Amino acid sequence: MKSDLKESGSVTITRNGESFDFPVYKAGEGPDVFDIRKLYAMTGAFTFDPGFTSTASCESKITFIDGDRGILLYRGYPIDQLADNSDFLEVAYLLLKGDLPQGKDREDFRSAITRHTMVHEQLKMFYSGFRRDAHPMAIMVGVVGALAAFYHDSTDITDPKQRLIATHRMIAKMPTIAAMAYKYSTGQAFVFPRNDLDYTSNFMRMCFAVGAEDYVINPVLSSALDKIFILHMDHEQNASTSTVRLAGSSGANPFACIAAGIASLWGPAHGGANEAALNMLEEIGTVDRIPEFINRAKDKNDPFRLMGFGHRVYKNYDPRATVMRKACHEVLDELGIKDEPLLQVAMELERIALEDEYFIEKKLYPNIDFYSGITLRALGFPTDMFTVLFAVARTVGWIAQWSEMIEDPLQKIGRPRQIYTGAPKRDYVSTDER
Ligand code: CMC
Repeated sequence: MKSDLKESGSVTITRNGESFDFPVYKAGEGPDVFDIRKLYAMTGAFTFDPGFTSTASCESKITFIDGDRGILLYRGYPIDQLADNSDFLEVAYLLLKGDLPQGKDREDFRSAITRHTMVHEQLKMFYSGFRRDAHPMAIMVGVVGALAAFYHDSTDITDPKQRLIATHRMIAKMPTIAAMAYKYSTGQAFVFPRNDLDYTSNFMRMCFAVGAEDYVINPVLSSALDKIFILHMDHEQNASTSTVRLAGSSGANPFACIAAGIASLWGPAHGGANEAALNMLEEIGTVDRIPEFINRAKDKNDPFRLMGFGHRVYKNYDPRATVMRKACHEVLDELGIKDEPLLQVAMELERIALEDEYFIEKKLYPNIDFYSGITLRALGFPTDMFTVLFAVARTVGWIAQWSEMIEDPLQKIGRPRQIYTGAPKRDYVSTDER
């Protein structure tokens, strides 16, 4: 990646009467950054930023978020335009290559992904090592991490050709591996991918077809899931993406890095929130119980939070939530699900929370996960598969960000420092003297 950092002035830090100047870089969009790479060498001090709330960890040209205005762009294109007009593989190409595909490039990319969807027959044996009731995310972490043991001809990260093959393999095989995790939990036989289907229809078929009966693709439903995948594909330097970059910064192979990303995504504050949001809506159950839960969310002494609400970056309506809400209605209409009680609870909860002083003051709005659980369940997925679907889509973002990092001339092994507040140096005390 060519660096486009443009110096636009400097910032001065004064310490103990001495002044130090640091360059300021102008962002293409969003806040400028202070370049403090020489801070420690010059001043002998570190910065302190738990959770990296004020730290830009890298230069990137992939995704831009303006959290205050509720804007999300992939390579400059607004997320709603992509979700409405594009499809999974086209957006995957965009994220990886920087532009929408045309002509032969478009077909070559589709063909490369379509023809890498099968997995090594021996990979299947991994599944039988898991309990049938294992969480599919646990299976994903294990099986994806194991890919490096099967595809070692694409683990040399210094070779661009191997990196490209690993990229195609990851994007292509992820739906197959995810569908196999689902099939394993149901006790049904694995379903082979079919090359004549588009990415998302193929995934749905691998999940829902059985040997005795094929799955009939419903274009409205597969298009809704395709949209949901597009919404989840990338999201700047979130926890799992930063995990992938950090793991990759040591030179680890891409399969291991994506497995690390899956592990991070699993947490309820990140990818696990869609599952948690649906569980919460179920627990609330009826509209009359909403005030009780709103009060719990506001109570400092109660750890309960409104799942699907709030975001580290969005201090406005999450633009993905708008598309998701629309997709939710499309799916329920297509399936003829009228008066879905959870949808009634969700809509009323959203209405009440958006008018409540606590949520207004803290700028807590619905995020992508608020409506995704209802939609995914209506599509036929069990709750514990929700985060797996997120992982399928986010694999594109992870691998695009990983590739960008590998090609970045400024790339270094990630190695944060700390402020140590533990015991000072002391001598060992033998057992009888403690
Ligand atoms: N319900 C009630 N209060 C909340 C909520 C919520 N969902 N989210 C934040 N707050 C309060 C929080 O208690 C804190 O209050 P105070 O300032 O009085 O201590 C304040 O708002 C700021 O919260 P924070 O935890 O410091 O903010 P954060 O940026 O660290 O957390 C978050 C962001 C997403 C982890 C958090 O909003 C949350 O836990 N939300 C629920 C889980 C969720 O829906 N996660 C999905 C995120 S979107 C999917 C993705 O991109 O991965």
